[in-house]
Amino acid sequence: MSRPINFSAGPSMIPVDVLESLAAEMVDYQKTGLSLVEVSHRGAVYNKAHMETIALIRELMNVPEDYSILLLGGGATLQFSMVPMNLLPSGGSADYINSGAWAHKAIVEARKVGYVNVPYDGVNENYMNLPDPKSIKPNSDVAYLHITSNETIGGVQWKTFPESQDVPVVADMSSDILSRPIDVGKFGLIYAGAQKNLGPAGVSIVIIRNDLLKRSTKNLGSYLSYAVHANSDSLYNTPPVFPIWGIKLVLEGVKRQGGAEVIARANKQKAAKLYEAIEKSDGFYRCPVNKAVRSNMNVVWRLRNETLEPRFIEDATNSGLIGLKGHRSVGGCRASIYNAVSVENVDELIDFMADFSAENR
Ligand SMILES: Cc1ncc(COP(=O)(O)O)c(C=O)c1O
Repeated sequence: MSRPINFSAGPSMIPVDVLESLAAEMVDYQKTGLSLVEVSHRGAVYNKAHMETIALIRELMNVPEDYSILLLGGGATLQFSMVPMNLLPSGGSADYINSGAWAHKAIVEARKVGYVNVPYDGVNENYMNLPDPKSIKPNSDVAYLHITSNETIGGVQWKTFPESQDVPVVADMSSDILSRPIDVGKFGLIYAGAQKNLGPAGVSIVIIRNDLLKRSTKNLGSYLSYAVHANSDSLYNTPPVFPIWGIKLVLEGVKRQGGAEVIARANKQKAAKLYEAIEKSDGFYRCPVNKAVRSNMNVVWRLRNETLEPRFIEDATNSGLIGLKGHRSVGGCRASIYNAVSVENVDELIDFMADFSAENR
């Protein structure tokens, strides 16, 4: 079967072998005669899959022992609320870097819980830039510093991160988790929805330094408490079993490929090729993002003649290249080149872009 190449921002491409494994074992999981999605989440069969998934995250992201790994429902959007509910004490404040649409959403939710300072606001530069990480120095009395490691809509990505001795750094890594090696020990908390680099939608990963669990107060609703989930290995309630199974298969594939370093090399190569094709198009295509912070995951660009963009998207779709429309809030074009997208897939897009520009100059 011929399949289109899927450049969607999320849900997004999942390796075909993972989809095939899910299909092959959907009815009879590991010769149990039952599907993994119909057995008890308290039973041995599911428990093994669940704990192996957590162990794979720990191994592939090199997560230190004093961090808990949580698998939660509700998407990254729930984390916009859970982070301040758990980490922001009453009367305290947190620093949020406003780097784009997703950071902005996190700020809106945090403001419902407590006081938020915005030490850098990218809105003045149309979210096409990021601050120098060294320039971000939170006061020691803020509860945490929140960043968005990769802005899925704007196409900006932190290449190095702000650091602080006293203040935990919290990162929304939804759109670049496991796309490159990360020193987890430099963060207080990392969260990410699964549906870009990790697998099917429906589960989020939270990696939290254990000392921060003390901040989850007893009066929080149980599901909203990181401490509750950490104390029960994310089995406090019924976990999102299907996407967790998908993540497990994706991570097994990442391990076979050689891990985050190998993945990062391919990701850099894909992004470099695509940005180069844009730069070398004599202005037919143009990337508005500051070169130093261009994302290796979400490449955004405009056509010199913006009225041609709908044709570009339509012709691409007809050529089997789907998901290239920019987010409805910003327009233009965007290729999400997450881990599952191969160098060859990006080469096909580049060939199409060259043909389209030759025909429409
Ligand atoms: C960077 C970032 N944060 C948060 C979200 C929200 O994720 P969810 O839809 O899983 O709630 C997204 C979704 O695309 C995202 O790209």
